[in-house]
Order: sequence, then structure tokens, then C-alpha cells
Amino acid sequence: MGISCRQFTSLTAVALCFTINSANAQGTVKIGALLPMTGPQQANGVQISAGIRLYMEQHGNTAAGKNIQLIVKDDGGVADNSKRLAQDLIVNEKVDFMVGFGLTPAALAVAPLATEAKIPEVVMGAGTSIITERSPYVVRTSFTLAQSCVIMADWALKNGIKKVVSIVADYAPGIDSEKFFKESFLKGGGQIPEFIRTPLANPDFAPFLQRARDAKPDAVFVFVPAGLQTVLVRQFLERGLDKAGIRIIGPGDVTDDDVLNRMGDQMIGTVTAHIYSAAHPSKLNKEYVTAFEKANSMRPNFMSVGGYDGMHLIYEALKKTDGKTDGEALIAAMKGTAWESPRGPISIDPETRDIIQNVYMRKVEKVNGELYNVEFATFEAVKDPGKINE
Ligand code: DHB
Repeated sequence: MGISCRQFTSLTAVALCFTINSANAQGTVKIGALLPMTGPQQANGVQISAGIRLYMEQHGNTAAGKNIQLIVKDDGGVADNSKRLAQDLIVNEKVDFMVGFGLTPAALAVAPLATEAKIPEVVMGAGTSIITERSPYVVRTSFTLAQSCVIMADWALKNGIKKVVSIVADYAPGIDSEKFFKESFLKGGGQIPEFIRTPLANPDFAPFLQRARDAKPDAVFVFVPAGLQTVLVRQFLERGLDKAGIRIIGPGDVTDDDVLNRMGDQMIGTVTAHIYSAAHPSKLNKEYVTAFEKANSMRPNFMSVGGYDGMHLIYEALKKTDGKTDGEALIAAMKGTAWESPRGPISIDPETRDIIQNVYMRKVEKVNGELYNVEFATFEAVKDPGKINE
């Protein structure tokens, strides 16, 4: 409508605003996306929004007879902004879904508002286990760090990597990565002489990499979010840790499809565990990558499929509720939904509302002149280890 309710002050205007919103409620489903479209982690926002838009282009902007309206708000990766913008989406825009969440602090900040407003919060990017436990209205189509880190630890132990230095960004998903890798790796007899946590803002990794090198490990285990992997890898290579025989391992965020091809051939042979590779060899993924690249002139990464699959989950839930937007009914409809994603088969755990998906072991290889994460082993239907046996 162009004018927000907040801009109306007189009583008549309030009444008019109410009328417009109830008209919306009948014919239009509003989806408010909160994403870091600017700031250091903007790549997550760009990838997730591109995934959302591709889904809408391919499947049309109607579901169960309702028009689907997308409103994207840029939180700049700052959780206080996410919270303020979520309040605006709820109160003024009267959205039916809040989606996006390229970073954990944003997803956590909005969860109490989702509970209060009884609006589904579809987490398409953030990866800390606890997020889904913060509100019964949270559903996740991204991943948890724990899913990949446990499998990475087992692979390392079976493949001659016994001593590892852990380097993680000092915020929730970094702490989760460290915790789940550590538990499995130590249990299997590995050693971790150093646990290093690096700042999120403008980190200089050089002193941390020097500390890692001095410990003479077989590998460094790494998790840093979007925007920082290239810096860390460049400093790792510049300081010659690869030449000293130290490998990089970790969840696949470090060899993210978004930036891998610019990291250089020294990355060839790097093994990571992750939930999506642009090189995933299914027919559906080949079509996804072709359509995504055509629309965006860039390669899709794991964040993009979180956006794409999140929209699928919303469309399917609306079909099940006959277009009704009652939050509780939508969440009930989402539980147990299973489908094929470009990443492989996925489903929403009816117990936890978290995603169940395959985790793949991948190795960086050159394919047709470009670097890709080529999958070589599959662990099927992995539940979030952060919730099992708690
Ligand atoms: C999160 C952010 C990332 O960039 C990533 O690769 C994984 C997780 C997060 O904040 O949850």
C-alpha cells in the first residue's frame, strides 16, 4: 500500500489501516525476510534472498490461492536491527511469516517475538543448535554446525589426523563447532592442544595461525562465518602452513562455494564435511545450479538452498492449511514435511522442528577449470546431534 500504519495518526486513518490489513489477510500472505544484505556477512543475505526469489520465480507467487508477497529488510548482520525490524514487520506490515536469518544472533533475537506474535520463524541460514529450542514457532531449513562437525571428527580420526588445533569465530556457531568437533575427536583418541577463538569483527588471523603452527598439528579445524573464510585461508597460505604439512579441515563453510573458486589451487585436496555442494550430482541440483547462475551470475552455495527450501516448506504448509495463516496450524503442517532439495533428501523433524539431512564428505577438486567440493561419501538423514541424548 505504500504508506505504513505508523504514518497514520488520526482515528479515521487507523480505521482505514485496519481495513487494508484485513483485505491483505484474505488474499495475500506476507513474508517478511530479515537478512544481512550489507555488512561483513552480506554474502549470506545475498545468497538466501537469491534462493527465495528463484523459488518464487519457478513456482509462481501464489500458493493455496493466496498471493505471496515478499518484503526484504536488511538487518546489516546486527541483531538489534533484526529485532527492531521484526517488530515493524509484525506490527505495521502484519506479516504471516518471518524468514531469512543469515546469522545466529538475528535468529535468537527474533525468537521471543515469534512466540509472542505466534508467527512462524523460518530459519534459512543460521546454524547454532539451540535456535529451534528458543521458540515453538521456529522451524529450520538451513543446518546445524553440529551435523557436519561430528562427522568431520570421525573422518579425521580414520584418516590419520590425530592432532588438531581448533580455530573458531568467537560466537555461538563457532562455539558449537568447537564443542561438537571436540567431543567426538577426543572420544576417538585425538588430541587438541590448542582451542583458539577469534574475534568476529576485523580479525587478523596471523597471530592465531602462528600459535597453531607452533603446536605442530596434523590439521587445523576451522569455522568462521561468511566474509572471513577468504581472509583466514589467505593468511594460512601466505604463512606457509600448508607447506609445513598442516591441513585445513572443518564444516564446509571454509570452502564455501561462494568463494572457493577465488581461493586458489592450493586448496585442491582440502576435505570438509557439509550439507550442500554446488557439485552435488543429482538432476535436481544440476537444474538448480543452472537456473541460479543464469538469474544471479554467481554460483549457489549452502545458504541459497536454505532460502529455496524454506520457501518450499512455506508453500507446502499453506497448501495443507488451505491458505489459512494461523501460526500454530502452519507449524503443525510443517512438522514431518519431507522433500527432495537440490542438496538431497531432507525433512523437518516433527519432534524438534529442525532439519534432517544428508551430510557429505567432500574434497576440493578442479572440475572444468573451476574449484568445486566433490562429494565422495554420504551420511544419510543426519539429525541435529545437539538435540540427541540431551
Ligand atoms: C552462521 C553464519 C555463517 O556464515 C555460517 O557459515 C554458518 C553459520 C551463523 O551465524 O549461524
